Order: sequence, then structure tokens, then C-alpha cells
Amino acid sequence: MKAELFLVPGVIGEERLSNKTLVLIDVLRASTTICRSLDSGARAVIPVESSGEAVEMRTKIGSEDAILAGERKGIKIENFDLGNSPHEYTAERVSGKIIILTTSNGTRSYARASLSSLILTGSLVNISRVTTRVARADRDLVIQCAGDDGDFSIEDTLCGGMLLHKLIAEEKVDLKLNDAASLALLLYRTNRRSLRQVIAQGEHGRYLAELGFASDVDLAASPDTIPVLPVLKDRRIVLDEE
Ligand code: MLT
Repeated sequence: MKAELFLVPGVIGEERLSNKTLVLIDVLRASTTICRSLDSGARAVIPVESSGEAVEMRTKIGSEDAILAGERKGIKIENFDLGNSPHEYTAERVSGKIIILTTSNGTRSYARASLSSLILTGSLVNISRVTTRVARADRDLVIQCAGDDGDFSIEDTLCGGMLLHKLIAEEKVDLKLNDAASLALLLYRTNRRSLRQVIAQGEHGRYLAELGFASDVDLAASPDTIPVLPVLKDRRIVLDEE
């Protein structure tokens, strides 16, 4: 299986996604929040790029069913119902609802993903579910890290590296890696015993702790604590039925 990892968004030509499995990773925090909201019983998460688009979408769906959610610079958008802290997404708040989510980096990748055959939300909290699904799909793999404002981010790269490691070590998949994927694998293997510390010491980990979200960083850095498999279908992220 060919496995390509992209450290930052915007560099994958659409044709490179055709007939592939695509894993979209934003550990801090969009991917983790998506996992948590579906685990708490949300019907779907609709990723959108802008807050204006989110408001329009809510008008279309109706405010009975839809919740407006998202952040800019880590902070809840004014007049939105929820921010982007996974801890906010309790069953009481989101069960049975459709979450319309716009975040600074993580939700942007979904709009460009459509040519892929299978589009999964990847994070550390659901890493084993993603690994087994990628292996079972048995198609070439593209891992897109959300990064931070166009820059490399260490937590997304570590998560991509962990996925590659598990495909090799547990699923016995023979991977042909691009150089960024080799780098991610090396980064993970060198830091596998100190994931939490490395993530907490990263730029976005430190920033979120300053904002009072250290417990989000802790949760997001804990592998397999929310074992769900979110998949993009008809522009909505839902739980995989397979
Ligand atoms: C993003 O999309 O950039 C993040 O999820 C930001 C955050 O809320 O920490």
C-alpha cells in the first residue's frame, strides 16, 4: 500500500485523492471534538469553512435540530452555542443534534476531500479504529495533517506517525512511504513513550493551556479513549456503519 502524508494543507492535487483512503487529522482539537460529539450521540457533524456559512446552514436545517459550534484562535465564536472544547460535547448538549462546526484549520480540509473513496476523521483518541478501517479498505492512503495556520504541527504529525506504525506493526501492511510519512513514523517511534508531554509542550498545546484548556490537551493526547469511527458521507461526518 502506498502511504503519503502531508504535513500542511493545500499541497495535495485533487487527482491524488482519487480512489484513495483519506485520513484527516487535527488532534488539537477538531478531530477530537468530532469523535466526542458523535460518541455523545450527535446525529452528524457538518464541517464548514466560515462562520457565515455555519449560520446559513443552521437556518436551512432549523435551530431545533442544529447546534452552531466552532472557534477562532481557540475561543468560542460569538453567539455560537458551543466552542471547540471536546469536554463541552456532552450527551445532554448534543445527543440527537446536528453539529455545524467551523474551526480555524481542522474543518477546512473536509471541503477539499471529495474525490477520495473513503474519508475518515483521525485522532489519537480513535487511532485503533482508524487503523483497522484503513487496513480493511486496502486502498492507497493519504494522511492530511491540519497543521496550524499553514504551519507544521507536532501533534498531527505524531498521530499520522502512530497510524503508520500501527499499520506496519499490528496490521502487517507493507507500506511504501513518502518522505513526510517516513518523518512522521520516525517522530512517533522516537516519542511513543512520551506522547502527552511532547504534545503538551508543542505550540498549540501550550497555547490551549494558557487559555485554560489543558484538560483538552490531556484528553486529545490519550490514545483510544474515544473509540469511534467518524466518516464523511454526503458532506456530513457520521459514525461508520461497517
Ligand atoms: C483548529 O481547527 O485549528 C483547531 O481545532 C483549533 C482549536 O480549537 O484548538
